[in-house]
Amino acid sequence: MATPTDTRAPTDTFAAPHPQPTSRPTIGRQLQVEFRAVGRAFVRADRRPHQVIRDVSLTIAPGEVVAILGPSGCGKSTLLRLTAGLDRPTSGAVCIEGSPVRGIDDRSAVAFQEPRLLPWRSLAGNVALGLPAGTPRDRGAERVAQLLALVGLDAFAEHRPREVSGGMAQRAALARALARDPGVLLLDEPFASLDALTRMRMQDLVLDIHAAAPTTVLLVTHDVDEALQLADRVILLGSEPDREGATIREILSVPGDRPRDRGSAVIAELRAQLLEGLGVSRHAQPAPPPIPTAAIGLAH
Ligand SMILES: Nc1ncnc2c1ncn2[C@@H]1O[C@H](COP(=O)(O)OP(=O)(O)OP(=O)(O)O)[C@@H](O)[C@H]1O
Ligand SMILES: [Mg+2]
Repeated sequence: MATPTDTRAPTDTFAAPHPQPTSRPTIGRQLQVEFRAVGRAFVRADRRPHQVIRDVSLTIAPGEVVAILGPSGCGKSTLLRLTAGLDRPTSGAVCIEGSPVRGIDDRSAVAFQEPRLLPWRSLAGNVALGLPAGTPRDRGAERVAQLLALVGLDAFAEHRPREVSGGMAQRAALARALARDPGVLLLDEPFASLDALTRMRMQDLVLDIHAAAPTTVLLVTHDVDEALQLADRVILLGSEPDREGATIREILSVPGDRPRDRGSAVIAELRAQLLEGLGVSRHAQPAPPPIPTAAIGLAH
């Protein structure tokens, strides 16, 4: 195991944590998110407007996990940034519990593809940055310790980011987001840069966190299987012919309790449907057995 003076990153020794109820931090806020005809246009270098997102309307229930899929550049991160208050819509509104998001506020927290940790701070110090302003020192230290335990990093609290693996750094970033006790957890491809095994472990971690306290989660991903494993509903963003700007093309409800059987016929059919929506040929997929249509909720 690495010591704080090691410069080598230890391998990710993570096993999905199973925290005892008494050690669980309170990460229980669940807030509703509503997109009301949301649009975002940017101004190009030639000063012409460039509509990236248009007419996105959707209500996400408190505690629901929603995954956003779509081709690269279609506006997934833009939608997430609007929800986080890092950007403002040019039309419509993003509301949390019915009130518009007008800037960064403590109702939501974001984790990005890169952990974005401060290199000179320990993992504990980085997680502490997520604590709400004014958290008493004792309470803050206790909460950071609980969160590090939740993500399986309690033995690495004093390590610097360069002393841990990419997966561990990403778990620290997740703990930092949770430190805010967000009612809405926003994840922008948080596991995209990790190897396949670590990514699956991180997905299990999200399931554990959500089982411990079912916070509303909005997850942007390129990974169809990740979406089908984690989400209650999968939103497919895309553009329509002759119309600028992406909007919601499909909404798929994913049946079944999590963790789900990745090999089930229902999941195979949904996967094929999503890949087709993303423009990937069905012929590339093994033909799944037919499933009852009642098992799939499809809108749009
Ligand atoms: N601040 C900005 N100014 C101008 N254009 C922007 C800005 N932010 C995003 N865009 C444009 O909006 C479009 C959507 O970008 P966005 O990052 O939301 O896509 P994405 O779906 O997340 O892509 P990826 O899957 O590659 O991450 C792109 O064409 C991008 O160039
Ligand atoms: Mg993006």
